[in-house]
Amino acid sequence: MASKNLTGETLLAPSILAADFSCLGQQAREAIEAGGDWLHIDIMDGHFVPNISMGPIVVKALRPVADETGALLDVHLMIADPARYIPAFCEAGADRLTVHVESTHHLQRIVQSIKDLGVKAGVTLNPATPLEMIAPILPEVDLVLIMSVNPGFGGQSYIPSSTARIAQVRRMLADIGSQAWLEVDGGIDPGNAAEIAAAGANVLVAGSSIFRGSGSVAGNIAAFRAALAG
Ligand code: DX5
Ligand code: ZN
Repeated sequence: MASKNLTGETLLAPSILAADFSCLGQQAREAIEAGGDWLHIDIMDGHFVPNISMGPIVVKALRPVADETGALLDVHLMIADPARYIPAFCEAGADRLTVHVESTHHLQRIVQSIKDLGVKAGVTLNPATPLEMIAPILPEVDLVLIMSVNPGFGGQSYIPSSTARIAQVRRMLADIGSQAWLEVDGGIDPGNAAEIAAAGANVLVAGSSIFRGSGSVAGNIAAFRAALAG
């Protein structure tokens, strides 16, 4: 099934890191049926970031949920030596696989290896990493993810300077005629979603504000949709 796009331009990627893991499938299904587009899956290894989350087995477990609901599995690798694990995440069913520029000395090789396995390739970078780091690879990627918190944990606050970085990457993509998705991750809620979309983002990741927000999952997603509709 094709990816849904309920807002016309801005997709919502609920981050399951903030979900209740005792009923993960149910929570994931609820988020998509309520209007989420991609399921964002945060992979942390305790080396690249100071937290451990999940591995390919969880991606594989969510694959049937994605197929049934029309969601795409958006896998964000926050791990050392990502090249070693690319085949495992592709085989597990990732639709998008995003690697950190800080985690590899061979970015072009790893992006190509993802694409060779039939998966959309993304690159991302930490808030303090200069945007020039992604410039050489931009023509080859399907997705750029701007981290708006330091990776490792959900529930952090959006770093305000991220908005200027989003706008800058939007210009960089326009300059080369790229149609790559521009995704933003960390501290996003209905209060700042419109500003982030206006800066040029077209995929918003949200964990805490969807799964741990003040309302139900469906209510929290509806609040995003209302905010994005202006
Ligand atoms: C942070 C993760 C984020 C996180 C977002 O390392 O990459 O995807 O789950 O969570 P919130 O929306 O709670 O900031
Ligand atoms: Zn993430």
